[in-house]
Amino acid sequence: MELNLKKKKVLIIGASKGIGRGIVNGFAKENTNLVIVARTEDLLQEVQKEALENGAETCAYVVEDIMACDTKLFASKLLAQYRNFDVVVHNVGGSLVSRNHLAGAEDWEYALKFNALASIDMNSVLIPPMIEKGYGRVIHISSISAVMLRGNPLYASAKAFLNAYVTTVGRQLAPTGVLLCSVMPGAVAFPGSYWDKFVKEGHPRVDDFLRHHQAVNRFGTPEEIANAVVFMASDKSSFMQATNIPVDGANM
Ligand SMILES: NC(=O)c1ccc[n+]([C@@H]2O[C@H](COP(=O)([O-])OP(=O)(O)OC[C@H]3O[C@@H](n4cnc5c(N)ncnc54)[C@H](OP(=O)(O)O)[C@@H]3O)[C@@H](O)[C@H]2O)c1
Repeated sequence: MELNLKKKKVLIIGASKGIGRGIVNGFAKENTNLVIVARTEDLLQEVQKEALENGAETCAYVVEDIMACDTKLFASKLLAQYRNFDVVVHNVGGSLVSRNHLAGAEDWEYALKFNALASIDMNSVLIPPMIEKGYGRVIHISSISAVMLRGNPLYASAKAFLNAYVTTVGRQLAPTGVLLCSVMPGAVAFPGSYWDKFVKEGHPRVDDFLRHHQAVNRFGTPEEIANAVVFMASDKSSFMQATNIPVDGANM
């Protein structure tokens, strides 16, 4: 299938490892122009090299901590330096936030900012030029936790908020040519991931988790998530606005 992504300008935030790195390589294979963001420069350099080897037309990296910077200002600087983006992928987030369901607002706000608000703040700057151009793809990496509402309550609630944002704002954007969506991974394993050390230890938790929660009875790979993201970024997703798409090995 021809995805027509060649030479498209793609911004990926949270691009140095795991699912984000898989997404970079997915877009690299489509010969896109990439701008990749994370906090760890040496990892970004590795990913940059890998992306160019995999076919990226260009790959620039930017070191930034989106939890510590002024996110609107950062987005403005990206626009000033790289001009408009055709595709933006927001991958930053995770469940390694407070697990205390009785925590105060500070912990809930942190989980929400990490999983949704930092990216939403950037969208307030990145989306208007897309509207002006009449074209854009903005893809958030959510989680199947957003709909299953299991595990860490702060994480699941933050991702549920993100899904609601995608649905409500995505509907507003649909007539403009800007497609806003999310991909909701189930459990994904890769070197250094949450599950990786349990797998290496042969921990019984792994078998128990897979049998009860992933009908496919294995973890997903970053590439399997990237495939859905790359498809959503293409013109082929043109009737899929404002949607949250599970890619989860039949999570249950
Ligand atoms: N792994 C799973 O099983 C799973 C399942 C469902 C959903 N998800 C979602 O998928 C996304 C990626 O998960 P992952 O497991 O691949 O995470 P990860 O291994 O922790 O990678 C996160 C990426 O974001 C970057 N990052 C983290 N904090 C950042 C910050 N403050 N500013 C800029 N960059 C930052 C990290 O690089 P640096 O550390 O270099 O900054 C890294 O490149 C998350 O939104 C997560 O909720 C994951």
